[in-house]
Amino acid sequence: MDILVSNSLTPEEKARMEEVYRDCCRRAGPCAEPFLSGELNFDKNIPCFFQGLEDGRLAGFLVLFMPGAQEAEAAAFVRPDCQGRGCFSALYRRALEEVRRAGIPRVLFVVGDRGPRGRAVAEHYGARPDHGENRMFRDGGPAPAHPDLTCQKVGGPDGPPMDEVRRGFSFQAGDDFLQAALESPGRAAFLVRLGAQPIGGFMFSAATPGTLFLHSVGIAPAHRGRGLGRQLMGLALEEAEKRGGEVVLDVDTANTPACRLYLGCGFATRYRTDYYALDL
Ligand SMILES: CC(C)(COP(=O)(O)OP(=O)(O)OC[C@H]1O[C@@H](n2cnc3c(N)ncnc32)[C@H](O)[C@@H]1OP(=O)(O)O)[C@@H](O)C(=O)NCCC(=O)NCCS
Repeated sequence: MDILVSNSLTPEEKARMEEVYRDCCRRAGPCAEPFLSGELNFDKNIPCFFQGLEDGRLAGFLVLFMPGAQEAEAAAFVRPDCQGRGCFSALYRRALEEVRRAGIPRVLFVVGDRGPRGRAVAEHYGARPDHGENRMFRDGGPAPAHPDLTCQKVGGPDGPPMDEVRRGFSFQAGDDFLQAALESPGRAAFLVRLGAQPIGGFMFSAATPGTLFLHSVGIAPAHRGRGLGRQLMGLALEEAEKRGGEVVLDVDTANTPACRLYLGCGFATRYRTDYYALDL
């Protein structure tokens, strides 16, 4: 098998990878789609796409997601008829070379909850369960009211000043991630205010047609536990309505406040993704 290594994808390569992903879902059931962009990686020069080609045909691929220098998330998909022939191992070994070269100390294997194969592979390479995320979709119901909060779109000449954006998104780890997220195309960020005070934020990305991925939801620590998270979700759902598309989000299964918040706003879990960690 030949391995094509790159830090960007042509539209044709992206389409072939999406086809392999869809084949895997058809076989094993739905699972989180791979993030086929390097736009949020902390160093955009590090190769993050590894395509395994057999006779010119894409047999499988691995993507590294590296929002910070502390860990690289590895998500891989191998075409069902090519599984069990060492494709993942070859892709993983090649990706690991890049992770080590970049001095990243930890790999997170992304494992779907359908079937034991992904789990067994992660454990085979010495990775241990780290955390899980539920992928939630909205089943309907009215958007919560937001009498105390307003929101303002970040960016453009009418957008809020950057120091206010930073205060609103203070719950978000890492200024670099915030900056990269704000600059990346297809993403919209909203600063949430209580009166004039920035106290929270949320973002949308529209990577998959027909869906709006809601992420980076948060309320500044001093304002939590007073129902403002629920009001923020009311604002987010109204903004989503204006844009159209099904609202989707990921939440850490151990994040009780966030899980309760989303369940109370009409979201339900469709599938779960587990993360297995390996310290290098
Ligand atoms: C998640 C977050 C936005 C919730 O905001 P909040 O203003 O504290 O939430 P609310 O006061 O509106 O409460 C929402 C729900 O969470 C519950 N909740 C709030 N704090 C909780 C806690 N510490 N433990 C358990 N449940 C809690 C509330 O009871 C309420 O549920 P209910 O409607 O069933 O009673 C906030 O905790 C936060 O910013 N966390 C850090 C960032 C984060 O984890 N974001 C989610 C990423 S997916």
